[in-house]
Amino acid sequence: MNDKEKVAKYAADIVTNNMTVGLGTGSTANCFIEALASRIKNEGLKVTLVASSVVSMIKAKSLGLSVASIEQIQSLDLYVDGADEVSPDNTLLKGQGSDLVREKLLARSSKQFIVLVDQSKMVARIGERFAIPIEVLPFAWQLVKQSIEVFGANGVLRKNSNGSGLAVSSQGSLILDMVFDQELETGQLNAILDSIPGVVEHGIFYQLADIVLLATDGDVKEILTL
Ligand code: 5RP
Repeated sequence: MNDKEKVAKYAADIVTNNMTVGLGTGSTANCFIEALASRIKNEGLKVTLVASSVVSMIKAKSLGLSVASIEQIQSLDLYVDGADEVSPDNTLLKGQGSDLVREKLLARSSKQFIVLVDQSKMVARIGERFAIPIEVLPFAWQLVKQSIEVFGANGVLRKNSNGSGLAVSSQGSLILDMVFDQELETGQLNAILDSIPGVVEHGIFYQLADIVLLATDGDVKEILTL
């Protein structure tokens, strides 16, 4: 079992009967979906599942799991997802899967949000390794880009995986990947991006995680963030 599988199994073992569980997006979240599917199959665990993207819904269905639509649920007990960066102030950067609004909606609505990472995701500051993904209404992208550039940023619309077109979220938004040349404090950057009209959602998950599960050299360490 590699580190991703280990941390995913650790999280899947936290799930109990009758929970409503949100499924994240990405390779680590996929390992969680597999580990949970195996418990459902082998132990008869009963859960209601919702997905943070079309991709994770397809993954869950490919393993024989039923997935409810977000409209059908009132609340979540647990949301489990990966992250691209985790900073010491418990901020995450997410969004390589291009489904930010669904991911943040599930993270915010859940009683517990558990994040699965390995050491490579731990950074000193958000934006150290990745541009900040910003999900925008398609007609608003140029005006949003200009509004963000005022804060010393530059960026591009994200391309799809083969580079032939643009990346599009599950509900038809575009993604701007913005790099900031000045170091803004994360809380300040979060507030700025929250306030720009036309931004559907962005990849800064400011102090939202309850537990970060960190896989290091075969061990899983729980970092409580509250
Ligand atoms: C998707 C995400 C992912 O959780 C993040 O990109 C990490 O992915 P991986 O587990 O493949 O490293 O935010 O939008």
